[in-house]
Amino acid sequence: MNQSIANLLFERIASAAAAALGTNATIDRAWLKPTNDPKFGDYQFNGALPLAKQLGEKPRDLAQKVADAFKVDDLCESPEIAGPGFLNFRLRPEFLATYLQEIPPVDPSATYDRLGIAPVAQPDKVVVDMSSPNLAKEMHVGHLRSTVIGESVARILEFAGHDVERVNHVGDWGTQFGMLLAHLRSTQPEALKDLDHLQIANLENFYREAKKHFDEDPAFADEARRTVVQLQGGDPNTLCIWKAFCDESLRHCHAVYEALGITGLTDRGESFYNDQLADVVDELTKLGLVQKSEGADCIFPEGFKTRDGDPLPLLIRKSDGGYLYASTDLAAARYRIRECGATRVIYVVGVPQKQHFEMFFAVLRMAGWAGDGVRLEHLAFGSMLDASGMPFKTREGGTVKLKDLLAEAVERARAVVDADSDDVESARAQFSEEEKAKIAETVGISAVKYADLAHNLATDYRFSWEHMLAMEGNTAPYMLYAYARIRSIARNAGIDYGDLPAGAPLTLEHPAEIALAKALARFPEIIQQVANDLKPNLLTEYLYDLSRHFSRFYDRKQGVRVIDAEPESLRISRLRLCDLTARAIRTGLYLLGIKTLERM
Ligand code: ARG
Repeated sequence: MNQSIANLLFERIASAAAAALGTNATIDRAWLKPTNDPKFGDYQFNGALPLAKQLGEKPRDLAQKVADAFKVDDLCESPEIAGPGFLNFRLRPEFLATYLQEIPPVDPSATYDRLGIAPVAQPDKVVVDMSSPNLAKEMHVGHLRSTVIGESVARILEFAGHDVERVNHVGDWGTQFGMLLAHLRSTQPEALKDLDHLQIANLENFYREAKKHFDEDPAFADEARRTVVQLQGGDPNTLCIWKAFCDESLRHCHAVYEALGITGLTDRGESFYNDQLADVVDELTKLGLVQKSEGADCIFPEGFKTRDGDPLPLLIRKSDGGYLYASTDLAAARYRIRECGATRVIYVVGVPQKQHFEMFFAVLRMAGWAGDGVRLEHLAFGSMLDASGMPFKTREGGTVKLKDLLAEAVERARAVVDADSDDVESARAQFSEEEKAKIAETVGISAVKYADLAHNLATDYRFSWEHMLAMEGNTAPYMLYAYARIRSIARNAGIDYGDLPAGAPLTLEHPAEIALAKALARFPEIIQQVANDLKPNLLTEYLYDLSRHFSRFYDRKQGVRVIDAEPESLRISRLRLCDLTARAIRTGLYLLGIKTLERM
């Protein structure tokens, strides 16, 4: 299953086109698509129209020529021509059986199951800039999406074979730190004696108090400003306190990452680039890109205008010599490309920063820091709204802390688990307390992640507990349950999927069985597409579709017998389809950052 079926098919169409139309015809992979309706076969090639234009022929005649030259043999039936010249392809069950049969067994030493999909031959060095909260405050719901989407995208790219670094570009520098450190000095002098053990139980409150102090006490405001100067001037004592504060804030962040199951995130905040900022401006100035505007250093990338139609500048140094968000981003990108060798940098940041990224990418290109071999992407996501479409807030109107949101998710999932466990009929009634707690945690956290990933990234998304915790529909509970159910089939059959004879022939006869095999065989194609387009929602849709095909296959009326199928070879074949489905779901969920449960 190394190569996706769509790719195999496309290769054949390409050779048929070359044979029938000569080498002048250029054909595009995008012209081959899976069909929406099995009536039209499994794949449709809609290239006859553009090709007809290229070559000055009638689309239907041209489609006929390609169809005649198409080497049918094992892969599919003879293509059918439909409408103005669409070519429809229907896969042969025998081919599907061989294709799926070749999937190697699970490698127990691997972190995840590749299902036989080979990594890309030429890996990119990818930096995923994700999560990146400001350390002055507690992480809030706004950081959920960046963290969850970033993690999934990183896993998908790793799976595809790329070398991925997850970077947490935290906001750990800036004027608000003057206020925070001064407040720490004035209110907790004791804590400063033992910086290694500095603890701030509630960062949000601490920030609010510091701000109040700053607004109400002019002497304190002066002190805060002096502290900023000390910090920027590299005063050792101030730096130590700053460092301790950031470490404490990062500990809060990492507690959230742990709850979310995020690992391998490198904290490399804005302060890391401090001593590179002057050089960034220098280098850009030497390149002749910088212009002075009211004492500030600016770059005017082409095509950006203010509302009045004037050229829009990207500010890189203020008139007082201070640097900005964009200066740090330029330094960070230069570092990632030059020092880390990144060939692809992906910024998982909300839609509101769209223009910032467009402008700063333009500057990276102008400076030649990002050449043709470097891909820069702003993976922009929409805001999180509440169920009624309003900005997501606490009942009192404050920002919702991520920590609290995740705790609530687990609590709500626990209520679902308990409600069902009270029913003596339910298998869950016998689960231990420990197992129930584990199920609640997995279901709760997965529900939050899955709902986030199942939505189109760029649109705003409505957060709804009812929807994400529902057992029906494209939700985490549904998928986790589908997986656990398939795993339980092996237990009921008294076998271990791992003991099924590897490579035993698959028999695909019943329509529900063929449909399931087709859904399974699309796995490599989906992975490839998701890795290209960075759209985790395509993966959730696929997994949901796959599990519905499985339900039909396993359904007593519409489907086939599995555990008691006869003869034995058929029973083995069907159990292998069960196993492959479970494996595809487990790997798919892994790529979304979601752990599976063996029973629930
Ligand atoms: N700290 C920023 C914020 O909270 C996000 C940083 C995103 N990454 C970047 N390289 N600009 O809005």
